Amino acid sequence: MEKNFKRTLVTTALPYANGPVHIGHLAGVYVPADIYTRYLRLKGEDVIMIGGSDEHGVPITIKAKAEGVTPQDIVDRYHKIIKDSFEELGISFDIYSRTTTDIHSQMASDFFKKLYDKGEFIEKTSMQYYDEKANQFLADRYIVGTCPHCGSDHAYGDQCEACGTSLNATDLIDPHSAITGNKPVLKETKHWYLPLDKWEPQLRRWILEEHKEWKPNVYGQCKSWLDMGLQPRAVSRDLDWGVPVPVEGAEGKVLYVWFDAPIGYISNTKELMPEKWETYWKSPDTRIINFIGKDNIVFHCIVFPAMLMADGSYQLPENVPANEFLNLEGDKISTSRNWAVWLHEYLRDLPGKQDVLRYVLTANAPETKDNDFTWKDFQARNNNELVAILGNFVNRTIVLTHKYYNGVVPACGDLTDYDRETLREFADVKGNLENYLDHFRFRDALKEAMNLARIGNKYLADTEPWKVAKSDMTRVDTIMNIAMQITANLAIAFEPFLPFMSKHLRNLIGMDECKWELLGSVDIIAAGSMVKPAELLFEKIEDSVIEAQIKKLQDTKEANKLKNFKPQPVAENVAFDDFLKLDIRVGKVLECQKVPKADKLLQFKIDDGMGGRTIVSGIAKYYAPEDLVGKEVCFIANFAPRRLKGVESQGMILSAENADGSLVVIGPQGEVHPGCQVK
Ligand code: MF3
Ligand code: ZN
Repeated sequence: MEKNFKRTLVTTALPYANGPVHIGHLAGVYVPADIYTRYLRLKGEDVIMIGGSDEHGVPITIKAKAEGVTPQDIVDRYHKIIKDSFEELGISFDIYSRTTTDIHSQMASDFFKKLYDKGEFIEKTSMQYYDEKANQFLADRYIVGTCPHCGSDHAYGDQCEACGTSLNATDLIDPHSAITGNKPVLKETKHWYLPLDKWEPQLRRWILEEHKEWKPNVYGQCKSWLDMGLQPRAVSRDLDWGVPVPVEGAEGKVLYVWFDAPIGYISNTKELMPEKWETYWKSPDTRIINFIGKDNIVFHCIVFPAMLMADGSYQLPENVPANEFLNLEGDKISTSRNWAVWLHEYLRDLPGKQDVLRYVLTANAPETKDNDFTWKDFQARNNNELVAILGNFVNRTIVLTHKYYNGVVPACGDLTDYDRETLREFADVKGNLENYLDHFRFRDALKEAMNLARIGNKYLADTEPWKVAKSDMTRVDTIMNIAMQITANLAIAFEPFLPFMSKHLRNLIGMDECKWELLGSVDIIAAGSMVKPAELLFEKIEDSVIEAQIKKLQDTKEANKLKNFKPQPVAENVAFDDFLKLDIRVGKVLECQKVPKADKLLQFKIDDGMGGRTIVSGIAKYYAPEDLVGKEVCFIANFAPRRLKGVESQGMILSAENADGSLVVIGPQGEVHPGCQVK
């Protein structure tokens, strides 16, 4: 049943203020949320969009410690960068605030207190890791050890980043403190837990039965959480950065960041509308939509709703259209590895190209599965779509209007069948767009808007006003009037996606009303009105611009190689006799080629001073075969032969493994006769 909502509250995940935002955040959350909000605004609906920085949590304290500054310094720095860059990209928040405001502390504290007084928490003492050298309890992030699932030796106490499993610190094998390196001890501490299990039946009904329409990725993740069974979750932490737990005996304890952050949506709404905020949160005729990334699903669909249920006075979200992840040039975006396109840097490096980024991120949005951003694709979409289709149509229309009418829009005369067909086609665009936008299908919506520009291009190409102008100017009047109406429609259809272009275009064609309800109509621009001379809406992006961005990423990769190096622990001692068992020799590469159907393997013919031998080595990713011919290498000569992809390998070529896992072949520093032993 369609519900009748009177207003919409759009929330966007509060980004952690421990770094700037990148294209992954944008594609996942902020661009789609902005499109949706702008669309509703164009429709004249009552809608507010809430954002802010998430300024608590352990990573911020870690960063502060590393830099020798206070956590407040860190969040002040990044909050400003994030806020300014969102604004420059045209993300049209009604408020972008932060979780270190007094309003927020008060709101989060009161929220906790109400649940506490209602008896909604369980108080439990448990054993937690404590660093006796640093004299403090260790947050899960501060404990590093071996993952019990995949064996990675760099798992954190809350999550193993190698295999993605979420962990409890006590699951870690061989834990140690990230602050001092000490082996932590278990010490008793008291915390408050929200019994999620208590809300499980209600959550099941609300999501699994009443919200079957949620995106399959969201619904599926919720179902698997619910099917695993919910457990009480601690909502406090032993930490000195956050909202203090407002009860007696809680000295040195703060609210868990995931308890206070979503309350930030509420406090930011209150900051925006001190009088009316409750209507937006508590009235059943408000539609609440939470835009988030997929790593936030459980908090927004299970934990926060359980908090709201426990309070009892709030509305639950109507939808949580979470996106999957955007990768960058084939690799996972990573703040710590600096593998990202940072918004503030994009705005600096490619000034005036906000809409291009918005366009590409929407066209490639990871709506149903992870997706990849590449600079080549960015360039292609700009040059082949924005410039060649949208920009081209608008430009031709305005140029022709000046050529034939000195910029005065001609009147529409009699329509031909072809005109009617075209108009019918573009009358559908509004309905299609609404259907997509209402269902959070922004990629499809953008395609539909682009389709309108295609219709326009085709119309001009088919009607050829530049030819008709030689014989029948009345016909040209009609063609150009229709082309101008399509142009005006583009300004509306694209406003949610490309607000800068839309504004520029409206200014050119003298269109002061931009209302969704006008979409599809053919008399937006009155005959006789003036159009300004053409200006390009989009410019071609040259190869050099793209190459500079690719170079920047390559430099990051190089820098990471050096930065992330951690030497392997030295292996157990061996006796000299054991060393002598390995017969290591110098050889000269006579031939080298790729092994067919094996992308890692190179096949060598080696001069070993003993008639030659074949060796297969897994270094194809790091060398072009021809670069190794004539080089001297070291190899193990008495390695038992083995077959690799059908080729018998008689030995093993030695190489050093670099910090990034790449391999560098080892050879002698002076001239050595093939076959000589390495000792
Ligand atoms: N800071 C979190 C993240 O970046 C998101 C918080 S969303 C909120 O993953 F609900 F807590 F606000
Ligand atoms: Zn693991």
